Amino acid sequence: MKNAKEVSAICKKYGVNLFLDCCRIAENSYFIKEREEEYRNISSKQIAIEMFSLCDGAVMSAKKDALVNMGGFLAVKNKELSEACKNLLIITEGFTTYGGLSGRDMEALAIGLEEVFDEGYLKYRIKSTSYLGDRLHAMGIPLIWPIGGHAVYIDAKALYSNIPVNQYPGQSLVCQLYLLGGIRSCEIGSVMFGKYDDNHELIPASMELVRLAIPRRVYTQSHIEYVIEVFERILLEKEKAFGIKITEEPKFLRHFTSKFEPIYKSKLENDILKKRMLNF
Ligand SMILES: Cc1ncc(COP(=O)(O)O)c(C=O)c1O
Repeated sequence: MKNAKEVSAICKKYGVNLFLDCCRIAENSYFIKEREEEYRNISSKQIAIEMFSLCDGAVMSAKKDALVNMGGFLAVKNKELSEACKNLLIITEGFTTYGGLSGRDMEALAIGLEEVFDEGYLKYRIKSTSYLGDRLHAMGIPLIWPIGGHAVYIDAKALYSNIPVNQYPGQSLVCQLYLLGGIRSCEIGSVMFGKYDDNHELIPASMELVRLAIPRRVYTQSHIEYVIEVFERILLEKEKAFGIKITEEPKFLRHFTSKFEPIYKSKLENDILKKRMLNF
């Protein structure tokens, strides 16, 4: 909150509108409650209201803290700007109440925004994520610290120091997690942010991370325990992890649709991997 207040003051001073990406507003409010002394006895919802008071508007991907499977919104305080946005929407998409969503989805979204501020829910959610992070950390899995609210970020470059960065250690871990345990995760490293130089050599991203994002109100404690067990196997089979090459990639945002192949070190390894994929 302290940081947001400072940003808001700078924006006001220079006449710049401040828009909040509020997709994790409830989880972040909970962190403010935990970490900023003067907010300890204030509800997460009240903290969120204060955060919004600092802004001129907000955008939200409702798949996050609105607890729904799809949708989002733009909220604008200034009436003129709001009218301009609405007019543009009517011309390009449809009437504002359509929201680009069916009515039932918008109702679910409105209810989700209420329910997400339940302190019991938020406590379980944040504790469940930090439990996973604490356990992986204790096992010696390198990760980003402190643990966030919605995800645990694994440092794949440190974990798979045996895989060079141009063979995408993050993507390799994503594949291993799926092959060994059916766990879906997301690379946030050189597949996502890498660039090529003039000789088509990779200019790597600054970090090779893998995000274990945890859907809200989906998993129980035993699912989290299962993820930890799979990481025990990841550690045991660390040396067997393979590098990755990109075989097809679009011009933009390649992490969404690229195709990959493992880089085998030997024919034997190739056969083992194929068998494992077939078994899976
Ligand atoms: C902070 C933040 N804003 C926006 C988005 C985009 O959400 P969507 O998938 O609905 O486009 C994401 C997705 O993870 C996000 O983390």
